[in-house]
Amino acid sequence: MIIRVFPSSVAAAMALAARVIAALRDQPHLVLGLPTGRTPVLFYRELVRGLRQERLACSHLVTFNLDEFCGVGPQDPGSYRQYMERHLFKPLGLDPGRVNFLNGLAPDTDAECRRYEQAIQAAGGIDLQILGIGANGHVGFNEPGDWLVTCCHRVTLRPETRRANAGLFGGDLDSVPREALTMGIGTILRARRIVLLATGHEKARATARAVAGPLATEVPASLLQLHPDVELMLDEAAASRLPATSR
Ligand code: GLP
Repeated sequence: MIIRVFPSSVAAAMALAARVIAALRDQPHLVLGLPTGRTPVLFYRELVRGLRQERLACSHLVTFNLDEFCGVGPQDPGSYRQYMERHLFKPLGLDPGRVNFLNGLAPDTDAECRRYEQAIQAAGGIDLQILGIGANGHVGFNEPGDWLVTCCHRVTLRPETRRANAGLFGGDLDSVPREALTMGIGTILRARRIVLLATGHEKARATARAVAGPLATEVPASLLQLHPDVELMLDEAAASRLPATSR
């Protein structure tokens, strides 16, 4: 794993935006995997700004988001789809036909998960997967547990994850769905390159366990150690518990 520590969350977001812009310049048909959460908001802001500044066309870009809540439609203000519309898709005017999302309203969630895996394969696989990390070590919605699922699947969200997402539902914990659909750890590990963005003290423990701990399903992000091309972009706070040897 390559670890890069930046003096601030803004600097980390800017570096990640520059990385994605460079990838898009090299490869206009880039297939990009995308996260949600509070952390990537700055990254999306910088990405939109940078792409406008460079007048770089995104007309061939294809995106796949990591996850979506169950029982929440794409127009629901709390949905990850609407989060992406607000922060990236609308500002860039991305072609909705090139934007891919798990459908939280799918009546048959197993079939929906199979469809998503097949869509990723049909697009040629994910070239660059951007990830965040939950304070409990989750990636996408792959929650800590005794086992992990490799492919796209339906998950029950942990209480701390529902609390962390309450802001999308007006702070009302009861409105946060109890289940979600997510890419599996295998789906994520099949991406050609992975960059994980983590900022803030509340991510320091999970980041340290992901980088320097043993492979453990209790820390889903630790499985990223198996991938040959992973980079972590951290601010000082998120890097504060890393062992000196890994910095
Ligand atoms: C959410 C998302 C993850 C995200 C994580 C961290 O639940 N499903 O993809 O990385 O939690 O979010 P935040 O950046 O808000 O801490």
